[in-house]
Amino acid sequence: MWLTNSSIGRKVIMSVTGVALILFLTFHACMNLVVLFSEEAYNTVCEMLGANWYAIAATLGLAALVALHFIFAIVLTLQNRKARGASRYEVTSKPAQVEWASQNMLVLGIIVVLGMALHLFNFWYNMMFAEIANGGMAYIDQMTPATDGAAIMAYTFGNPYFTIIYLVWFAAIWFHLTHGFWSALQTLGWSGKIWFNRWRVIGNVYVTVLMLIFVVVALKYALCAGCCAA
Ligand code: HEM
Repeated sequence: MWLTNSSIGRKVIMSVTGVALILFLTFHACMNLVVLFSEEAYNTVCEMLGANWYAIAATLGLAALVALHFIFAIVLTLQNRKARGASRYEVTSKPAQVEWASQNMLVLGIIVVLGMALHLFNFWYNMMFAEIANGGMAYIDQMTPATDGAAIMAYTFGNPYFTIIYLVWFAAIWFHLTHGFWSALQTLGWSGKIWFNRWRVIGNVYVTVLMLIFVVVALKYALCAGCCAA
């Protein structure tokens, strides 16, 4: 099949799944934004999603997107390395505009996946999974309701090690997405000469705002561990 057999087909899969993941992240950032204004409102949204069938279906869809994106990233990287033979780069003096991120998308992707594993352990395991498998109580203390997202944030970012790891994770995601954004649009053919630079600026601003929302939420709970919900 063209999509999976050709190099451009695989890049299209990477781009479409990448854009879908950025859309998920946009939804996630908007949801997190709520906790900055009202923990009660945020927890109401958590309760609405909870472990309902539609939330579980969305989780499975999301897992499929991540798996496709990751598998095709590895296939494309191995394929590129094989095509280049022994020397990884034919021309070693790179033009200045070749970004550091574009050279390191796989490494950045691996940091993103490792951070994601920790994140799912901190939140998904204590919330959706605990609702299904632990009678609705988070594993952190067996007393906090699994729908109390604000309390689980306070617990997680009350630990400075977690906060530092999350900030490194956010930085890796920022690098990964600022490159991925315009690269995906270019693959999908939405990037003429003029739009090439425009998409880069739009992508950089968009991804920076997105990641700043996550940073502010983490810092809110890291810096006021005592005064936020516990
Ligand atoms: C301050 C930063 C963040 C906080 C406080 C946060 C919080 C949460 C919470 C409360 C959940 C819900 C768990 C559940 O009900 O199952 C969740 C799920 C999730 N988060 Fe985050 N998150 C943050 C950043 C991120 C980032 C940067 C990414 C992606 C790169 C991400 C990806 C996910 C995924 C994939 C899930 C699972 C969604 C699902 O079960 O469908 N999160 N997060």
